[in-house]
Amino acid sequence: MLPVLADTREAEMDKLFIEGGRPLRGSVRISGAKNAALPLMTATLLAPGKHVLRNVPDLRDTRTLLKVMEEFGVTSEWEDDVLYIDSTELKHFEASYDLVRTMRASVLVLGPLVARLGRARVSRPGGCAIGDRPINLHLMGLEQLGATCLQENGYVDVKVDGRLRGNVIHFDIPSVTGTENLLMAATLAAGTTILKNAAREPEIGNLVDMLVGMGAQIEGRDTDELIVHGVEQLSPADCVIIPDRIEAGTYLIAIAATGGQGRVTHCKPEHLPALLNKLRAAGLIIEEGEDSIAISFSEGKGVADLECVDIKTMPYPGYATDLQAQFMTLMSLASGSSVINETIFENRFMHVAELERMNANIKIKGSSAVVTGKGRDGLVGAPVMATDLRASSSLVIAGLAASGITEIRRIYHLERGYEKLIDKLTGLGAKVWKESY
Ligand code: EPU
Repeated sequence: MLPVLADTREAEMDKLFIEGGRPLRGSVRISGAKNAALPLMTATLLAPGKHVLRNVPDLRDTRTLLKVMEEFGVTSEWEDDVLYIDSTELKHFEASYDLVRTMRASVLVLGPLVARLGRARVSRPGGCAIGDRPINLHLMGLEQLGATCLQENGYVDVKVDGRLRGNVIHFDIPSVTGTENLLMAATLAAGTTILKNAAREPEIGNLVDMLVGMGAQIEGRDTDELIVHGVEQLSPADCVIIPDRIEAGTYLIAIAATGGQGRVTHCKPEHLPALLNKLRAAGLIIEEGEDSIAISFSEGKGVADLECVDIKTMPYPGYATDLQAQFMTLMSLASGSSVINETIFENRFMHVAELERMNANIKIKGSSAVVTGKGRDGLVGAPVMATDLRASSSLVIAGLAASGITEIRRIYHLERGYEKLIDKLTGLGAKVWKESY
């Protein structure tokens, strides 16, 4: 049985407190990736039977998606980080507004449901704190596979008579969940589908591996052209979720921002090429192991010696937008100016106003932010508001580095994507606690 999800209104009253100024030291184990777990969970809708997913992070988002899938008739059970999903019987094909509005990744059920049942009705996800976030590419692709997509009363209704039909689909923007949705849909289509300018994030490689394990025929893993030869049916999966590269990156930046020294373990260093280069450019020593990354300052150096580094967010393997806010906090501790250019989402600077409350000096010019670092002593604790998942983690890092106490409100955002955050930070020597009001 799933524990009941804390009601969001209730969770809104929770606050996270951080007494900053303590260098983080030690090692932290990275959980399975949220953004891999979500598509892999929906992929279980493609084949009737009992699926096993391993290394699944226990997060607000994974639990919300299970609720969405329960509405279709799926049953599930957790045993530590192993999630058993039984998708033998699907009785419904509708994902309601109440759940979809809390997590737009619910749109990932569209492709698998239409492929298996010929029908899906999903509440249209609205915009969110980081931007407009349309799903036009998902719908265009499904139409090119032969489905009709009707939008009415806030819902998207997708139907196909018989099987979807393979086609060539060209993404004008390499959408991550768009690629995942169409990849899943294409596995059961009649004929071959070619996804051009597909996204190449490691989470998509994880999904390809799962689908191939289920009997799908897919070529081009990790490239921007995925070729899918449709099959008539798939069998249940047993698959391991890859480590969360964004969680790993967040802890590396947190260790650096506090002048600490440590190691993230159970991760894949090869999934973080751009961040590791930027951390090296900022003056940090990074040692990549097979499944761990160590970070430290060179002898006698610390936060005050951080070099200013510019970043520009790009699709993988470029610098991840999901690590932009955290790096901005780091740069507000360096001496000098750096430019942070956000090219993926138009509104992903909501953390700036909150960081300014903590004494950061950041000027937004269009899609760029100019950060004038003030050195470690420049950030001071303050009450701040979390606005989205990654913005929240930049405030946590700021709180860990700042002098005094930082109080973060709306921490349900953090609970969407960081498993056991308080325990993991405490294990690294941070003083951090949650209070409920
Ligand atoms: N876009 C369109 N039309 C579409 C789809 C996307 O114009 O139909 C645009 C978006 O507006 C954006 C760009 O394409 O400008 C890329 O968006 P993408 O579709 O790749 O984003 P996503 O699939 O909705 C996933 C992650 C996000 C992450 C982005 C970018 C999941 C569940 N979510 O979102 O993760 O920021 O890719 O890497 O995989 C997070 O974990 O905090 C998070 C927001």
